[in-house]
Amino acid sequence: MKTILVTGALGQIGSELVVKLRDLYGDRHVVGTDVRSDPNSPVVSGGPFETLDVTDGERFLELGKKYQVDAVIHLAAVLSATAEAKPQFAWHLNMTGLVNGLETARQLEGQLFTPSSIAAFGPSTPKDGTPQDTIQRPNTIYGVTKVAGELLCDYYHQRFGVDTRGVRFPGLISYVTPPGGGTTDYAVDIYYQAVKEKKYTSYIAAGTKMDMMYMPDALDAIVQLMEADPARLVHRNAFNIAAMSFAPEDVAAAIKARIPEFELTYDVDPVRQRIAESWPNSIDSSCAVEEWGFRPRFDLESMTEDMLQKLAGRLVR
Ligand code: SER
Repeated sequence: MKTILVTGALGQIGSELVVKLRDLYGDRHVVGTDVRSDPNSPVVSGGPFETLDVTDGERFLELGKKYQVDAVIHLAAVLSATAEAKPQFAWHLNMTGLVNGLETARQLEGQLFTPSSIAAFGPSTPKDGTPQDTIQRPNTIYGVTKVAGELLCDYYHQRFGVDTRGVRFPGLISYVTPPGGGTTDYAVDIYYQAVKEKKYTSYIAAGTKMDMMYMPDALDAIVQLMEADPARLVHRNAFNIAAMSFAPEDVAAAIKARIPEFELTYDVDPVRQRIAESWPNSIDSSCAVEEWGFRPRFDLESMTEDMLQKLAGRLVR
């Protein structure tokens, strides 16, 4: 049974991924790490957990050795809007953290998964049906760290034989842990506000389409790609994957079909709007489908149904 170390384990993806991985691989085979701890989180109480600042390479490797780790799932990073406010910090955390993760994987001869993003594309990228291999000239610091990260992961694979794998995640939507500091966060907030207030003010303008995915599909994609037969992988870092593409008015319509009083208004944030406009409308996931069988289960309607039901249970209690 392999042992996996997850960084950013208390974040939006990590808090659900660690629980899923422990179900699959056994509690003591999944080590959660984060820069902070939270005694109330199942990630901390349900198996091994260590505090780790990913910019501390010595401790990263020490923990890898302590638990005899076979795979690193490196999630710790700042998202696009926070990165734009603090570019130097974003470069430091996103890149130094990744280098330390790669070095740990190299020295332990393990695998490494890290998410790239739709942010790895920029204004000169084809906007619709964005191909797997295309122009990548992002104009956000977050995007710059994602492209550099993809290249570095490919380099570690070619140069040192590290089994690096990654996906370009779209906006991820979940009802468990909210994201923080991203541009696509509106697509999560809108559901919380729909349940709590029956209205939402969007900081993203009408007509701005971005790719999105429901968290269960994102978690399945990570596990599936990590388990995929390496002989079938033509690409590695990182695969386009998306489940749906929508603008604020589309998600509002899906909510309104279930909560008729729901109202959407707009108060556009120029920073996040500029970031959103620099990203594709919809990316093409066909390489992920062909090379490792990516197959998302949720579309906008089924996700909306599930989100509203789950949040109603959580927020009303
Ligand atoms: N969801 C991320 C963000 O909005 C994109 O990777 O920053």
